[in-house]
Amino acid sequence: MRPIEDHWRLDYHVMPEKGWLNDPNGAMQFNGTYHLYYQYVPESPNGGATHWGHQISQDLVHFTQEPIFMSPDHPFDRDGVYSGGAVIHDDVIHFFYTGNVKKAGDYDYIYHGREQNVVHVTSRDGYTIEKREVVIPHADFPKGFTDHIRDPNIIEQNGYFYMVLGARRCDNRGSVLLYRSSDLDHWDYQGELIVGSEDEGYMWECPDLFFIEGQAILIYSPQGILPTTYQYHNAHVAGYCLGTVDFEKVTFTRTSEFYELDHGFDFYAPHTFEDESGRRIQWAWMGLGDTMPEYTNPTISRGWQHAMTLPRELKLINNKLYQLPLPEYQVLRETGGHYDIDGHFDLEVGSIYELIIAFEETQSFEISLGEDSQLTYAQGLLTLSHGPSGYGRRKRMVEIAELSKLHLFVDQSSMEIFINDGAYVMTSRFYPSEEKERRLELSLTGRMDYYPLKSAKVTQEKES
Ligand code: FRU
Repeated sequence: MRPIEDHWRLDYHVMPEKGWLNDPNGAMQFNGTYHLYYQYVPESPNGGATHWGHQISQDLVHFTQEPIFMSPDHPFDRDGVYSGGAVIHDDVIHFFYTGNVKKAGDYDYIYHGREQNVVHVTSRDGYTIEKREVVIPHADFPKGFTDHIRDPNIIEQNGYFYMVLGARRCDNRGSVLLYRSSDLDHWDYQGELIVGSEDEGYMWECPDLFFIEGQAILIYSPQGILPTTYQYHNAHVAGYCLGTVDFEKVTFTRTSEFYELDHGFDFYAPHTFEDESGRRIQWAWMGLGDTMPEYTNPTISRGWQHAMTLPRELKLINNKLYQLPLPEYQVLRETGGHYDIDGHFDLEVGSIYELIIAFEETQSFEISLGEDSQLTYAQGLLTLSHGPSGYGRRKRMVEIAELSKLHLFVDQSSMEIFINDGAYVMTSRFYPSEEKERRLELSLTGRMDYYPLKSAKVTQEKES
């Protein structure tokens, strides 16, 4: 149960009971049940050696907390069971992760002093581990790279399993390595699938390669990409490129620019899976590492930090990835209010709600929400800004020439704003000083649907 006084806890997002959470890992649907694993440090809200936490769901809305799946208790992962993915093959779940080891001694830990071992884990139920062994020891990685090579994800193609790994080259460019296997145990290095240019970041974390309707898509999270006027303003960003992939020639040739997946403040390390109905679903860490000191999460003083974004369906529309909220979340809707707004309008709202605003034509508008947050649109720029409740999150802007729809999900201390049916998304945490009804103020002409939402609070681990 959420302690009454902690009104920052989320009601319909995956979050830790206590401690720290970061990347989603090993997401899948197995015999009907959705499993989500995640980077988790139960001992401290400030992070540390990560475990894999575990929650399951039947409907992607209500989740059950399960026991920790893996802890950093092997010599090959003693400083963290880092990120990775899962593939189901012949009714067995095969997980792959990076076993992080920090060598003792005086190292910079950037270029030297770490081991990042690729570990293969098998399970028939997602709970019990049958095998957990290193399949690519750090020492076997190719030359020309720093010690940062991690975050395996698997894709099955042409009768082989392919693994992508994110890397930091010695020349400080990010790249993605490709390995191949026929049996999931023996892996052969194929080469670099793609290498970034100098201004595209020094390390590419969490690569995820998949197809939608035959189109190859590579998602990755580059660290150190240089900001442009309106893009890449977070400490690290996450996005995707479309391309053509040739597994024989080991090339991913980009056919699009690198598009940021989210234009807010809190989004990183997106991770996707295909569910049993064939939907490509993405979770991301609704948080960020290496942020500036003034950008904080005050939940640390309450013993926890971070949450996942909502799961979002990815669709390819006009050569762009759209992110859509799942229709499953409509079960949380309470009786709503429907309003035709022409000019100024205000409404008392609770602290968890959904808002859909449809505009007949592109127009300037202003929306005040939360305690001191604002969403404004003028001259082709959508701006999200926070006052003190943003705890250092001030302003993010995104260029949108025509704006026809906003779809907001507010959950106590998070907001996710889907724009033009998922063409753009802005995700942000914010921390209102107290839990109370708030006045939503709007200046616009359009049709608005407002739904207070029911809580879908995580039920606790089953007693055993
Ligand atoms: C991304 C990341 C991954 C790593 C994990 C460690 O946020 O740095 O590259 O595997 O987090 O928790």
